[in-house]
Order: sequence, then structure tokens, then C-alpha cells
Amino acid sequence: MRPVRSRLFWILLPLLSIVPIQAETGYDAWLRYPPVTEGVLIDAYGRLPATIVKLDNSPTLTSAQNEIVRGVRGMLGRTLRMESRPVQGGMILLGTFAAVKQALPGTALAADLITDGYWLKATVTGGRHVLLITAPNDRGVLYGAFALLRHIALHERIDQLDEKSNPYAPLRWVNQWDNLDGSIERGYAGRSIFFEDNHVLADLTRAADYARLLASIGINGCTINNVNANPRVLTPEFLPQLARIAAAFRPWGVELSISVDLGSPKTIGGLNTFDPLDPLVAAWWKQRVEEIYRIIPDFGGFVLKADSEGRVGPSTYGRTHADAANVLAAALKPHGGIVVYRGFVYNHHLDWRNLKNDRARAAYDNFHDLDGKFAANAAVQIKYGPIDFQVREPVSPLFGGLKHTNETIELQITQEYTGQQRHLCYLVPMWKQVLDFDLRVNGGDTPVKQIVAGKTFHRPLGGFVGVANVGRDLTWLGYDLAMANLYGFGRLAWNPNLAARQITEEWTRMTFNDDPRVIGTIVHLEMESWKVYEGYTGPLGLGTLTDILHGHYGPNIESAERNGWGQWIRADHKGIGMDRTLATGTGYIGQYPPEVARQYESLETCPDHLLLFMHHVPYTHVLHSGKTVIQYVYDSHYDAAEEAQQFPRWWQALQGRVDEQRYRAVLDKLDYQAGHAIVWRDAVSTWFLRESGIADAKGRAGHFPGRVEAESMRLDGYTVEDVTPSEDASRGKAAGCNTAPKNCTASYTYRGKSGWHDIDVQYFDANTGVARFELFVGKQLVQSWAADAGLPSNIPNGDTSTRKRIAGIELQPGDEIRIIGEPNGGDNASLDYIEIKEPAP
Ligand code: GCU
Repeated sequence: MRPVRSRLFWILLPLLSIVPIQAETGYDAWLRYPPVTEGVLIDAYGRLPATIVKLDNSPTLTSAQNEIVRGVRGMLGRTLRMESRPVQGGMILLGTFAAVKQALPGTALAADLITDGYWLKATVTGGRHVLLITAPNDRGVLYGAFALLRHIALHERIDQLDEKSNPYAPLRWVNQWDNLDGSIERGYAGRSIFFEDNHVLADLTRAADYARLLASIGINGCTINNVNANPRVLTPEFLPQLARIAAAFRPWGVELSISVDLGSPKTIGGLNTFDPLDPLVAAWWKQRVEEIYRIIPDFGGFVLKADSEGRVGPSTYGRTHADAANVLAAALKPHGGIVVYRGFVYNHHLDWRNLKNDRARAAYDNFHDLDGKFAANAAVQIKYGPIDFQVREPVSPLFGGLKHTNETIELQITQEYTGQQRHLCYLVPMWKQVLDFDLRVNGGDTPVKQIVAGKTFHRPLGGFVGVANVGRDLTWLGYDLAMANLYGFGRLAWNPNLAARQITEEWTRMTFNDDPRVIGTIVHLEMESWKVYEGYTGPLGLGTLTDILHGHYGPNIESAERNGWGQWIRADHKGIGMDRTLATGTGYIGQYPPEVARQYESLETCPDHLLLFMHHVPYTHVLHSGKTVIQYVYDSHYDAAEEAQQFPRWWQALQGRVDEQRYRAVLDKLDYQAGHAIVWRDAVSTWFLRESGIADAKGRAGHFPGRVEAESMRLDGYTVEDVTPSEDASRGKAAGCNTAPKNCTASYTYRGKSGWHDIDVQYFDANTGVARFELFVGKQLVQSWAADAGLPSNIPNGDTSTRKRIAGIELQPGDEIRIIGEPNGGDNASLDYIEIKEPAP
């Protein structure tokens, strides 16, 4: 029956066609399936068979079939007929090799596929068009279904398909650091999608939708709880709850695994020991594991963080990491489970006075001698660098140090040290560098990706783990543009040989649209962002110069020094950098194979971007680039902060080309980042200027044209306060309003040129309450706003410093600029400065 349209519809039709793009929340990420509108392709896709047949009823194949129906309906506007037996006419056929052989005897099937690999083949059998999606196992078929949909979403032809694809490594997992109480360690996107109040959530829709996203990029496992594990996760009451999450994952081929605490036999098992070599302990683990597999037959295994950052470990009983891993591995083995043992083991009470001490040595020193002692179903999970997810680190030498032990590489999708999803910092280019880095083990061609995949040393197990920490926010990671990191991680785990740009383009087209301007701008933004973030946070291998003792977010250079955490940069008034050489330093460089060690050991050959990680040099040391270290630090901070100012401008060119909701959300973030990049620039430059006593040759550091410090304004109610560390506020001071509930006022008489100006108000947005501000010029209220950004600190510092830009104000000499701050709940409406500038061209 033809649908009847009302008259109103025909009147509104012209209007409907100019409402270009629907608002989107970001929830569908890259699986939006918007209509394909290109004529030629529509014709090509028109030949897609009308029926989709799945050859068995497993939950995974059902997902594959439903997903294709969903995708085709969205993109091609057709509803495929779903069948479970081959039909006479054309069909899309989903099935494992075994099922296809049975249903269509005589079909020649590719033998060169491994577990999870897939084959897409457009063929004609018995006179009918068949689009075959087949694989050795169910999960492979599901991956094939997503690959087909990706082809359509990217407007690629599918009528001649003959594509075989194998995963690069067997293990492609994400870790979630979710606590059972619903919080997430280093999570920046709201609370857990799995837990609340020490229980598994009743509604696991988000968990299932997450598994779908993961499956679409080939991720086959998810560890759902914090590596700093709560032993409760193994209790008899909790296990059935875990089984519910496993059930939500299962249709998407994502295996559930959990982090465990080595002390569990004692804390929850009633034993008086957790010695891994004690038979009672072994029996306890065996019994727990049996219980798990009884209710979760496809359980993936355990992740274990031991003897690290206060976690108990085998050292309590004088046992080794291999002993600890192997007791779990033995329990898991009969069921096909694995144990992933974290290589992140170091002493966080190192004596900083001893110049030979070096945290970077720890992973290698702890694990190298144990090579060959780990069970075949155990793997050591190694962070990409020897410290801890810094914006730049050399690759961990441990990758090359284990030849008889399975490995996984740990990458961090959640941006703990790289801007916490408030800054754009796209990590795929960094991961590519890490994965492609050739360690030259035994003088051969041994890139990290091949080692961790088990290819170099012929290991049965190995792969890629990304710490994701998605949360309940509708955008999953808290920022639409950050989702490129999750997508990119999955794509690289499947095939680390993909180019960063290709991954980024795919993601952009599927997440936003095909407008060349949109693609060009977003790809450019993403691809630039890591370099820019590094440029204004921690260049030359210093690592992120953030507050390592608290939020890991804003600048606090000296927090790295003079404590046991070992992230030292060894700066004094003469020079900077950790001497890790063999000749005079900690000897860390000696952990690399000789060719790499030689390169790092010599100042001649050590690359600039790792110089201060490897060497201690004077500020006047001349880099390969010809600049001195100190000038490079200034230039890098000014240049990168300047580039960050361009980010929102580039994005603004996309107004009307992407949906309004995501356009606004991203613009807000990029605006914020531009402001915070200046906080970073000023803090680091000020600190280096003070420490080195060497001026910026370009005269920028320490000079702030157009800036009026709050402490030099006329203050009514506001009091001048010191900020710690002092470089986190301009000239070290802020004006705070401690008179709640009474307001405070800061005013200033403008004496500059008349004309249009922008005013930046730099203030501190503490997370204890929501202060409000009003800015007046003369009697006119120009702008009011709330300090409600939820920044990660409750005091004025580099975490909370942020700016409000008030653009396009006509100012005349004698105008009074007045800011009224209204404190609220511990947020003292603190002000740092205002900066009055002519608008940028
Ligand atoms: C970092 C992070 C911790 C985490 C640890 C780990 O240090 O800040 O929150 O527990 O890494 O990876 O175990």
C-alpha cells in the first residue's frame, strides 16, 4: 500500500531537504550506517542478493546476520530476507567452512585462513550469485560481516569481492580498569558500564553495545576490571554476575577475562597463605577456575598485576613472577584459558639521591632472567615504554629481552598522560612508531609488532592489549574525536601494517561523512595532534611534564623529582636529562640489543626526540636540529601552543558539514584545549627560564603582552594567593574569593587603543562547586558563565586553569572592565589574569 502523506508533509518537504544533517550523540561511533547516496554505487550495490542465509544458529552468526541486515537497511535502504537454509536465488551466505561445505558441497574453500580470519567471496554457484562470508570459526564470520559493511560504508565495490584477511596476532584484547564500585581508574568518560555499588549492573545494554563496537574492529577479548583488582571478583556470589557480562559479550565473540589479586587465596579463600608454590594455594586456584568455567565456558583467563605499586606478589614468599603466573596458568590450562602477567613491576620507593637508580630498568631487570620459565599459556604484558604511558618514550627493551616467553604489548587508549580526552591527542601515529621500531635482536629484522605477535620467536601466543576505559558517557570515551584511538587500536591489532592515515580516513568517513572538507580537516587535526601535544607538554624525551603525584593532567614539572616514583628528569640550573648511558649513567641503554644501544649511547646518533630520556646535557647543548636544548624547549612550547590555537579555527570550517550536536561538542573541547595549551606553554617556559636563567632568544618566555594580572587589578573582596606550583599561574599568583556567599570584584581601567578586541579571562575552575562569573565593560554586562567544566582538581593549579574567550568587544581608553566572581561550594571563582588582544585575523 502506498503510504498516504499529509498536505503538511508536502508543504514541509522543501524545508526537510535543507535540514542537512541529523544531530548525533556519537553513541553509534563508526557503526552509524548512514544512507549511501552516490548514484553509481547505488547501482552496484543494487545487485546485492536480497536474501541472507546463516548456516547455523550460534549467537555469533546470529549477530553477523542481524548486523548485515541492520547495515544494509541503513546504508542501502533495503531489508534483506533472513533465511537459515540456502535458497534457490542469489544470497549472502554466512557460515563456517564446515557448514558451507555441508550446505554447498563442492565449494572450494580457502585453506590458508587461521582462527578469526575471514573470506569474502562474490561467486556464482549453480547459476546463482552468492556472496560468501566464511571463516574457520564463527567469530571469523562475524568479522567478515563487519568487513563487508565497512566496504559499503566506505563506498567500495563489493561485486567482485575476493578478500581473505587473517589477524596479525591471536590475542587482541582491551583492558578496562573498572572498579566494582562503579568508578574507573584513569577513566574519563563517566562511570562503569559494568559495575555499580559492588554489583554488576542490572541493565547490560551498554556492555553488549560495547562488545559490538569491539567486534567490529576485531577485538576478541575484554578484561573488565581494574588491574588493581578487588579480590571480591572471585567470590562465589560474584561469579554468577560475571557470567551475565560474559553472556552480553558472547554474541559478539568477545571473551571475558578478569584481573585478579594474587592474595585472593588468603583474603577470600580462607587459607593462611597465598604462596604460589603451596599445593593448597594451587588447589584453591584450580577450584576457583573450575567454578568459573562451569558458568562461563568461554572464559578468557586472568590478568595479574603483582609486586607493583603496592599490590601483593610472589616476593612475599621469595617466589618469582613465573611461579605466580604459572600457578594460575596451570589452573586455567585444562579449560583453554590464559594468564596475562603484567610486566609493569618496579619499586616506587627508589632512592632518588642515587644517580645509578633507574625505574626504566625495572621491567627488564625483573623479567629478563625469567625468560623461558613461564608456562605456554602465560604471556607477559609489556607497556610500550619502560616508564608509564608517557607522551614519548623509547620502546621497552624487554620486548627484545624475552625470546622464550609469550608477550603482549600494552597500549593506552584512555589518555591518562596525554590529555585525558579533553585534549585531542591521536595516538595511532605513536603506536605505529612503536610497533614498527626495529629492535635488531640478534642483528636481525625484528620490529616490535612481529615480536609481540609471536612471529619472531615462534611463540604460540601473543598480541595487542589496549587499556580502553570507556564509560557511561554517550560518546564512550568522553570525546567524539578520541574514539579514533579506540578504532585505530583495533585496526592495528588486526593489521599493524595499515598506515595511520588510512585508518584515520576510514574512521573519519564512517564516524562523520564523506565531504572532502570534513575528511581533510579531521584527518589533519588527528594526525597533527600527538606532535602538538608532545610539543607543549614534554619534548625531547622528557615525558609528559605533568603532575605525576596527583591527576596526571596539568603541568607540574618538579613533581617528577626528588621522590621514589623514579620519573626523574634530573634538572638543575646547569642541565637536564637522565643519564642512562652505559659509560657514565644507569646502564639502561645496555638493555637494548647492541645496534640500538650504540645509537642511543652516543650523543652523535641519539635522536633529538629521545635525547633527554637517554642523556644529561647542559641547556646549551646543541641538538641535531642546530638549536640549543633550552631554545628548543621554548620554541616547541610556543609553536605547539600556537598550532593548538588553530585547532578550533580549522574545526569551525566544518559548521553545517557535520551534525550540529557533535560540531558544538567538539568545538567546545578544541577551544578548551587551545586555552589549556597556553597554560602548559607558560608553565613549562616559565619554569625553564627560572631554572636555567637563559632567556628565550625570541623574547617570549616570561613576557606576556596584553596581560593584566588579577593581583594587579582593583580587588574588592578578592584576596591575592600563591599558587602551587608557582608556574601554574601567571606570575605565580591568583586572586581568590573566600567571602562566600558574598561576591568579589576585580576591575581594571583600559588604557589601550580604541577598537575591537578579544578578552581572555583566565580563571581556575575547581571541581568542588560551580562558581559563576560576569564580565562588564562599563555598565554593560557582556558575558556571564559558569565554572562547571569538571576539571580534575579542587584547587587553583594547572589542572583547573582555564580560559573564557570573549570575542569582538569594542573597547575605548578609560573603559572599566569589571569581573564579578560568585564563589560556590569551595570553588572560589579564582582569577589568574585577563589578556586583551586585537582579534586574530
Ligand atoms: C599507571 C596508572 C595507574 C595504574 C598503573 C598500571 O601508573 O597511573 O593507575 O594502576 O599504571 O598500569 O598498573
